[in-house]
Amino acid sequence: MKGKFITFEGSEGSGKSTQSRLLYQYLKRKGLKTVCLREPGGTKASEKIREILLDHKNDSIAPLSEMLLYMAARVQLVNEIILPALKKGKIVICDRFLDSTIAYQGYGLGIDIGLIKSLGKYVTSGLNPDLTIFLNLPLKKGLKHREYTKDRIEKRSLTYHSRVLKGYFKLAAQEPKRIKIIKVDKDKNKTQTKIRELVDKFLQKNR
Ligand code: TMP
Repeated sequence: MKGKFITFEGSEGSGKSTQSRLLYQYLKRKGLKTVCLREPGGTKASEKIREILLDHKNDSIAPLSEMLLYMAARVQLVNEIILPALKKGKIVICDRFLDSTIAYQGYGLGIDIGLIKSLGKYVTSGLNPDLTIFLNLPLKKGLKHREYTKDRIEKRSLTYHSRVLKGYFKLAAQEPKRIKIIKVDKDKNKTQTKIRELVDKFLQKNR
């Protein structure tokens, strides 16, 4: 595997999609072959699964079905796009990955974390991010951004979302080498500067 796999994680409204897009543009300008993806999504089937997962009308999806749907979307993305791109030596940026399932369905919904990790290993063919950027923003600030456009997951209680956030911090403490915490600044450009410094250093070290 020659490429590099960089993921973004964080709670709702933390700015992951903006920040991952800005990083993508930066790396492209530097002449690096880069792709930018999101989870769930990125392939035809995965985008359809995303619609099912986020549609607030689907209020009877069981926690286990929810977890398996995220995994199903992931199987498609990993095999159709991520692994082929990494094999070609590209940098793959992905807005969310397996850590999201551990945080949202494991810590958030109470599904066995051991089960999620072992199924996750199978689903991803053992692929782990080389670097994970965890965008840290106080929950209330993030959820406020999305007050009017809440999807099925965002609509969950503050207690649920704080379990998710705590889960992320536990993951970051367990894997400090891979998961780097970046404090979100009010100014998105300042946040992006911190991310670029981190990624430049990482790429220099891991050429
Ligand atoms: P997004 O809002 O960052 O695009 O992510 C979609 C939603 O899906 C978000 O509320 C987080 C949630 N999610 C999970 O609950 N588990 C997962 O495994 C993933 C990838 C996302």
